[in-house]
This record gives sequence, structure tokens and C-alpha cells, in this order.
Amino acid sequence: MSDALTYAQQERERFKQELHEFLRIPSISTDPTYKEQVAQAADWLVAHLKGIGLQAERIDTDGHPLVYAEWLEAGDDAPTVLIYGHYDVQPVDPIDLWETAPFEPSEREGKIYARGATDDKGQLFIHLKAVEALLKAEGRLPINVKFLLEGEEESGSRSISAFVPANKDKLKADVCVVSDSSMPAPDRPKILHALRGILAMELHVNGPKGDLHSGMYGGTVHNPAQAIAEIVAKLHNEDGSVAVPGFYDDVLPLDEEERARLAETPEDLAEWREKTGAPAPWGEPTYSLRERIGARPTLEVNGISGGYTAEGFKTVIPAKATAKLSCRLVAKQDAHRIYEQIRDYIASITPHTVHSELIMLDSGPWALIDINTPPMQAAVKAYKAGFGAEPIFSREGGSIPIVAGFQAELNTPVVMMGFGLDTDNLHAPNEHMVIDQFYKGIDTAIHFYKALAEEA
Ligand code: BES
Ligand code: MN
Ligand code: MN
Repeated sequence: MSDALTYAQQERERFKQELHEFLRIPSISTDPTYKEQVAQAADWLVAHLKGIGLQAERIDTDGHPLVYAEWLEAGDDAPTVLIYGHYDVQPVDPIDLWETAPFEPSEREGKIYARGATDDKGQLFIHLKAVEALLKAEGRLPINVKFLLEGEEESGSRSISAFVPANKDKLKADVCVVSDSSMPAPDRPKILHALRGILAMELHVNGPKGDLHSGMYGGTVHNPAQAIAEIVAKLHNEDGSVAVPGFYDDVLPLDEEERARLAETPEDLAEWREKTGAPAPWGEPTYSLRERIGARPTLEVNGISGGYTAEGFKTVIPAKATAKLSCRLVAKQDAHRIYEQIRDYIASITPHTVHSELIMLDSGPWALIDINTPPMQAAVKAYKAGFGAEPIFSREGGSIPIVAGFQAELNTPVVMMGFGLDTDNLHAPNEHMVIDQFYKGIDTAIHFYKALAEEA
């Protein structure tokens, strides 16, 4: 066993305690009241990276800070790895459903429970500890490393998306590694080669100029809450496909080779039921569940509101109703073009008895990655050593907006090697990280850096 692995195994308990400390900082990026705490998490990382022996800085932006750190003493012949992660976390609601407080990390049955434990503080911290183990135990790294950590991933990645194209030299690397995803089971590691993009929108439907008495006007005024339901009901066809004209025009069809490969690691129906708790699957019938998640676009209703929803009843015709809509987009759909198609379609189906307006809030690109590259082979080797199992290559339906930026702006191959588990409750109450995954993740990252150096 190499020194770094021995060191990492001896220091496991301390590594875990340090993660607890990091998890205590409530770095919720979407809620402006947590601005200070997000900055505090950035400062914590800068101090920690310096402590490990890297040069580290906090880079302030119009939004939340970026954290940049480097160790470039492996020499010009050694590859340079850009390590990406996000230190911001999702909001905690519904807070009542947490068994222990989200920012008071607590351990039960081999798991650390806290907001951000798996998404993504725990996973990015794996790389800090792998780098530390190598530096402390072996005095040097086999590769040059650059860390770029953001605090806005859960709220759209705006600042990093501007920073990357403006700092191509600083960020120049041979490979970029992202650990911000999960595996179906501890003995089934997964390397992602596709992520979906995102398009977030808001639909407003207005009718009367103010709320009306439903006895005096009911039956003569088209109720906006009803009208928005009518509009939303027309967004999909009977078979679950999206009804917006042109929506699928730019979707890259899956080739037979990939369909065959995805079929080898299907989303198991029983597992899907267990994970979702939903009575039966839904969606485009001619695509498998894995294909629907990884390779097909969606249009979702994330929330719908209007009128009176508190205790008891109130006989009112509300003046307006709102729906939060979003799309998951796939190669090679363009978010602006899709927004325009949806906007025009909604305008065409809005009854003349109400007004509607669709606003675009945000978007982030999809990513598609070539799996036949040397760094991918290094990742395969590393997982075999760290988890004792051959990883599968698969697509994921979530979004990490900057991944496409690393490819397009830096021209760097990206390896997405996740260490979470699908069952970690990311974005939900009782988010957790399985401690054994954290430890094996550190070992795997050490193997990965070494394998990269050997490939070069
Ligand atoms: N880590 C996730 C994305 C992810 C989830 C990748 C599951 C692979 C498997 C990331 O933190 C995330 O939640 N992204 C948001 C981005 C959005 C807010 C722009 C998402 O996908 O909803
Ligand atoms: Mn994440
Ligand atoms: Mn997330």
C-alpha cells in the first residue's frame, strides 16, 4: 500500500470530524439571507486548502465567492487536473421532516446526516483529503492540481460561467474532475458521460383586475386558477410527450450502440418504485426509464399557486395564478429557442378570457462527454482499486451548468466520478453521506491522480 493510502486510512476519523465542521456552515446560495454564511464557507475552504499546503484565494464576484487553489510543483511533464465542486447547498425545507437539524451534522448507522453531506460538500472534501494525504505522506503530488470551487451551483452557476471563459490561462488543465453525482449501489460505481441542461420559467395568468366574490361573478369570469390548470394540462400529450411544437426538433437521437449499452444497466423498475414511492412510471412510452432520464428532454411543473389555500374556505375568484415551469434539456437543444417555442405555444392556447405571460428565469447548458479518453480509463482503474468494482458509464438527468463550460471554453475533457449514493436524499430532508463512501472516495481519488500520472 502506498504511503498516501496508509495516511488516509489512519486519518479517517479526523477527516470525518473536519467534514462535520464544514457541514455546520449553512451555505444556502439561493436565499439572500445566507449571503454571509456562504462567504464563511468560502473562507473556511481557503483556510483549509492553505493548511494542506496549497496556494488558495477567495475570488469575489457579483454573486457568491469562488475559491481557487493550486499546487503546481509536479513539473511540466506531469498532467494538470482541475478539480471542480460546489460548496453551496440547497435550502432545508420542509424542515419538520428532518430527524436532526440540517446544520448540526449527526451520525446514525454509518451515515453523516446534514444538508450538503453528499451534495456537494462531502464529495468535494474527498478531493481535498486525497490531495492532503499525498502531500503529507509522500511530500508531493504526482500531478499538478487546480481547485475551482463555486458557491452558486444550486442557484444557477452565474459567476463561474463568466469566470471560466475570462480565465482560460489560469484554469488551463489536461483534465477536469467533478465529483457531484451518485452511484446506484456501493458495488456499482458510475461515471457520467451526459448531463441534462436546464431552463427555468415562470407563467403568470391574470384575469379580473382584483379578487372577486365568487357568488357575484362566478360563472361569468374565467377563473385564472382554472385557466392556468387548462394551460398546464395542454403542455403534454396523452402519451407523456411534450406537446409544444418543435420541442424535439434538435434532440440528438440515441444511436443503437448507446441504446444497447444503456440497456445493459437499466433503471430497474422495482428499484425505481422503491426510490420514488410513486405507483407507476410515466413518460414517453417508447423510451426506457434510463433513456427518459438521461437522453430525453422534459417540461415540468415545479409549483403552481393562486387563490386561497389556507384553513377553511373563502369564496373568491382570484385575480391571478402562477406556475413555476422548468425544462431539462438534452443535446443539442438551445434553451433560448425552447423558451420561445413554449412562450409562443402558451400564447396560442391561452383562452381569450385571460392574459398570460411566460418569463424566462435562468438556463444552463447540457453536457455530452466522450468516454473513449485516457482519463476515463484512469477513472475506471481508480474505481476498481477503491471500490473493488468495475464502473458503468451512464447518463444522468440532473444538471451541473459549468461542465459544458469546462469542455467548450477550456477544451478540457471532464471526468464525472461520483461518490454519493442515489439514496442519499439530496435536495430532500435527511440528506446524508454514507461514511464508507466518503472513505472509499478518498482512496479512489488518490488512485485516480496516480493513474493519471501513469497515463501521461
Ligand atoms: N449534483 C447535482 C446535479 C446532479 C444530481 C448530478 C444527480 C448527477 C446526479 C447538482 O447539485 C444540482 O442539483 N443541480 C441543479 C442545477 C440547477 C439548480 C441549475 C439541478 O440539477 O437541479
Ligand atoms: Mn451538486
Ligand atoms: Mn444539488
